[in-house]
Formats: sequence, structure tokens, C-alpha cells
Amino acid sequence: MTAAVSATLVPALEAHDLRFGYGERAVFDGVGLSVGRREIVCLLGGSGCGKSTLLRTLAGLAAPQQGTVSFLGQPLRAPHPRAALVFQQPSLLPWLDVTANVGFGLDFARQPATDKATRARRIAEAIDAVGLTPFAHAYPAQLSGGQAQRVALARALAREPELLFADEPFSALDAVTRAGMQELLVELVHRWHTAALLVTHDIDEAILVADRILLLASRPGAPGRLVREWRVDIPRPREQHGEAVVRLRLDIVAALRAAA
Ligand SMILES: Nc1ncnc2c1ncn2[C@@H]1O[C@H](COP(=O)(O)OP(=O)(O)OP(=O)(O)O)[C@@H](O)[C@H]1O
Ligand SMILES: [Mg+2]
Repeated sequence: MTAAVSATLVPALEAHDLRFGYGERAVFDGVGLSVGRREIVCLLGGSGCGKSTLLRTLAGLAAPQQGTVSFLGQPLRAPHPRAALVFQQPSLLPWLDVTANVGFGLDFARQPATDKATRARRIAEAIDAVGLTPFAHAYPAQLSGGQAQRVALARALAREPELLFADEPFSALDAVTRAGMQELLVELVHRWHTAALLVTHDIDEAILVADRILLLASRPGAPGRLVREWRVDIPRPREQHGEAVVRLRLDIVAALRAAA
């Protein structure tokens, strides 16, 4: 087997037996998971069960007290330049226009070296992909919430990441904008050949977006654990398969109740 072929068999992300806590209190314990190349995994769970903390640990932003995280087959101890993050708030720099916000950080030392022309092409492609070319020179204050979140998505894609970490990226948006963003996310992840780990507490979002859903749950006072997993093989667009969607939804709701 050639090195190139074997490299694609290594998952994008793998974690074993992770624990993280504040003081004596564990937020989660015994968590193991993997995200395959080009796979979209949703981490679903109720408020406060530890989703954001787990995501931060998996992304190298927080060190686990126990267990290991590997990214592209290598141990991960700090944020990796081939992994991109999108948060609930777009956190754009108000004094930079859309183009400069999308390009921000691309020439930092930890990023893979690229020449100016390549950077400019990547930035323009990412802005085009999220449908914001007419706003390329607008400033954050001139954008709607949905547009600002699309800039955050473009900023992540311009890094051509192997894995996109997203923590409730659409939860501040209205229902219609949100549905459009969910479709856009799936389309972009497929087009960019990237994997994604999306944190959400929205069951419908998880069902529409995920190839696989992991349920994180914690009983009061106990650490969060991954309690269930579903492979979602409903063909896309999933809205057209209402019966299968409803069946899966009911199953997830029952699992959430049982875990509470
Ligand atoms: N800095 C901190 N110090 C102490 N406890 C913390 C700290 N940050 C988070 N926690 C606790 O860790 C637990 C998990 O928080 P986390 O933000 O990961 O939950 P979440 O599942 O992302 O919730 P939400 O859906 O509301 O975003 C919560 O009980 C929270 O109170
Ligand atoms: Mg959170």
C-alpha cells in the first residue's frame, strides 16, 4: 500500500478515554470517538452536558486530564493549522472588510506557507462559495447575522481544513436562515472534501446534517458520557424522506429522555 493510500485510511480525528474537569468535578469522562475523512459527525446533547468543553478538548484548545487526541494520525496538543473552528458568534474584526476577515491569520507562522496569489485565490473562492462576493468589501457592521456567520464559514474554508470544528454555529440565526446555512454547510463540506464535527443541541439540525450522530449526556452531578450513536443513511435532501426523519427523531428523543 502506498503512503498516500494509507494516509487516507487514518481518521481525521481520534480520541480515546478522554476526561476533563474543573477541580474535582469531571465535565466528561471515558469519551472515545473518531471522525473519518470527509465524514460529518454531530455531537448532540442537552445544555450544559459538556459539548463545548469536549469540542475545545478535541480541537486542542484545552488539555485533557486523561486520554489522548490524535489528528491525522498524530498526537494533538495544540490547535492544528489544518483544523478550522467556527463558533456560535462569528467574531469578526470590525475594522477589517469581509475579504480581510476571511484572510485574517492565513499568513500566520503556524499556517502552511502559501504565496500571495494562492492566498488571494483561496479567499475569493471561499467568499464566492458562501455567496458573499457582492459583499467582499463590506464591513462587519454592514452585514446581517446570517451573512456574518457565512463570513466565519468562509474564513474557516479558506484554510482548506481537513476538519472543521463547529460549535452551534447557527443557533443565533432565525429558522429560515438557519435551514439555508445547514444546507450550505453540507454542500461546502462535500465540495471542500473536509470532515466536520458539529456541536448542536438541535435534533433536527443533527438529522439534516450528520452522517453520524453521537449523543453526549450527563445525569445531574455526573460526568458527561457518549451514550448512543446513530449512523444516518437517509438520502439527501433529507426533507424528502419525512418518514425516516420522524422515525429517527423519535428514537433520539427517547434516548435523550432515557439518559436524563
Ligand atoms: N470555566 C469553568 N469553570 C467551571 N465550570 C465550568 C467552566 N466552563 C464550563 N463549566 C461547566 O462545565 C459544564 C459543561 O459546560 P459546556 O459549556 O461544555 O456545556 P455545553 O454542553 O456546551 O452547554 P450549552 O449547550 O449550554 O452550550 C457545565 O456544567 C458548566 O457549568
Ligand atoms: Mg456549548
